[in-house]
Amino acid sequence: LSKLVVAIDGPAGAGKSTVAKAVAQRLGLSYLDTGAMYRALALKAQRSGLGPDDGEAAASLGEASNIDFGQGDPQPVLLDGEDVTSQIRTMEIGELASALSAHTPVRRVLVKRQKELVQAGGVTLEGRDATTVIAPDADVKIYLTASLEERARRRHKELIVRGQQADYEEIKRLISERDHRDMNRADSPLRVAEGACVVETDGLSADEAVTRILELCESLKGSG
Ligand code: DC
Repeated sequence: LSKLVVAIDGPAGAGKSTVAKAVAQRLGLSYLDTGAMYRALALKAQRSGLGPDDGEAAASLGEASNIDFGQGDPQPVLLDGEDVTSQIRTMEIGELASALSAHTPVRRVLVKRQKELVQAGGVTLEGRDATTVIAPDADVKIYLTASLEERARRRHKELIVRGQQADYEEIKRLISERDHRDMNRADSPLRVAEGACVVETDGLSADEAVTRILELCESLKGSG
């Protein structure tokens, strides 16, 4: 299974990171968080004074920057060598990442790198276009989702655990807007890819979702 590619897409707060990391670990695959790359670029854009409409300028910044991953849990995210792991995990950066990701020039820069990272295989990747654009030929394609309320609850808990301020109703509103933007942009909108399995996680623990995905990977091995 070492060259296996498992691609997972889904809306904000569906539990993609938790599940993708666990699947990668269980199968001995590397883990690629494509959203972290949009977030790192958004942070750099914000520092440069760019706003959500500055797609061309953000793409140029992206061309000129190094976005790398280190080893560890949480996996370190390195922007031009600087560890920005926790700085990119705010609602604000998530929003800017989502807005900038709607611009084709921005996607072009990051998708090219993501395809290179996936080319050799042996990876579990997650994002919004992992199953549709980055790795449409992945061995296993998953659309991981949950109700808006459940996702808002999880994101709320996550922010509180990190010691950040968080208001449930506000988070729910922001996630709903983000869903709308990610699903309705013209370039690579979030959608269920052809051949993808939809895994609905309301009422499922992370472990149960992971087990379900591992079963799909196993059945694939059986079918050759
Ligand atoms: O998964 P996340 O919340 O870290 O992603 C932040 C934003 O980045 C998301 O709202 C849309 C964008 N994104 C994308 O357009 N394509 C991806 N493959 C991953 C993320």
